[in-house]
Amino acid sequence: MKILIIGNGGREHAIAWKISQSTMVKKIYCVNGNGGTLEVAENIELKNNNEILNFALDKKIDLTIVGPENPLCEGIVDLFKENNLKIFGPEKKSAQLESSKEFTKEFLYRNKIPTAKYFSYTNIEEALNGIEEFNYPLVIKADGLCKGKGVFICENKKEAIEKLEDIFVNRIFGDEGNKVVVEEFLEGYEASLICLVSKNNIVPLEIAKDYKKIGEGDNGDNTGGVGCISPNPLLTKEIEKQLINISEDIQKALIKENLSYNGVLFIGFMIDKESPKVLEFNVRFGDPETEVILPRLKSDLVEIILKTIDNKIEKNDLDWSNKVCLTTVLCSGGYPEEYKTGMEIKGIENLDSDIIVFHNGTKRENEKLLTSGGRVLSVTALESKLEKARRKVYENIERIYYEGIYYRKDI
Ligand code: AMP
Ligand code: GLY
Repeated sequence: MKILIIGNGGREHAIAWKISQSTMVKKIYCVNGNGGTLEVAENIELKNNNEILNFALDKKIDLTIVGPENPLCEGIVDLFKENNLKIFGPEKKSAQLESSKEFTKEFLYRNKIPTAKYFSYTNIEEALNGIEEFNYPLVIKADGLCKGKGVFICENKKEAIEKLEDIFVNRIFGDEGNKVVVEEFLEGYEASLICLVSKNNIVPLEIAKDYKKIGEGDNGDNTGGVGCISPNPLLTKEIEKQLINISEDIQKALIKENLSYNGVLFIGFMIDKESPKVLEFNVRFGDPETEVILPRLKSDLVEIILKTIDNKIEKNDLDWSNKVCLTTVLCSGGYPEEYKTGMEIKGIENLDSDIIVFHNGTKRENEKLLTSGGRVLSVTALESKLEKARRKVYENIERIYYEGIYYRKDI
């Protein structure tokens, strides 16, 4: 088969790496790819969904796998299906579960899926009146896709007013901030369930724990994720069962509402004192979750994706390693704020042979490997014990160098 992967991060490198091990695969293309995907795929520069469609038609691509949310939310699956091309991911209508917070909250409320109490507003006057009803902290969310930066936890009324003005008056997110969801603050710890969803079934993948904050001890700004462990060491079997039950209710609700969903659904939960509540959906694999989940998957990912597309996926199709996988993401100094790119990366060739390095933000230029993003490399180990995986990752990181290298030492 000829496979096309859309995206250029660590998640897409991990997908490319995994499917390159499939006997069904002859050729992999990656749009736009990075310095890591080059090891297993051919990188292709394409600018938008139409260019990607034309490429797929021209090369007679057998299967397209979409990594990030933007092409899904813009309707690439609908476009490919209209052209009789096989593609893995939800259609635009269902992708609203990521592209609109209001759509998601309404869906959850209508279907009595546990989630934080909320109101939504379309202008600043309504919102200022509305926040009188809430206690602090409260959570303000711009409705649309804001590159993961659209959520604010406000400690007091002054902060809440500032954020509402930023969104409605200063329009820091443009049209993505035309609506705002205000919701109660939930305390607890977060866990996510990444599931394969078909018309007939919802099948959770193994669970991972994502480290979202840039600083050690979970301090500082939120990031896309700077470390990850699978299985999640915090989660009991009892809680896991509750998450799976909620995921099954979600799948039933999707069917009931005629939201034909096929692809990956990433369900973000807050586990508070009473019960797990849904915080958010993503309509794609997580990053860096994918970098620790796929090394533990023994089954053929292409087969699994094809079975999901054909609505035949079952839990038993997924065979998992009992080992523990840990990844630490090496970042560019300054991330998630401003950072420099174009730094030469040295030392990868000196790593142990069983360390897996997924590239998040790198490019090859004249034989050199350069940094090209805020997250640069995910240094990953798969070992029988968590402590051993951790030790191996940190020993190996010592051998990698680029200017401004930063990473958390407490993953
Ligand atoms: P979201 O994009 O909705 O998941 O929000 C991003 C992050 O904000 C989540 O991963 C949580 O850490 C935090 N968050 C969102 N909603 C809430 C809430 N209602 N209570 C507490 N924290 C929240
Ligand atoms: N790691 C969280 C995400 O992929 O959105």
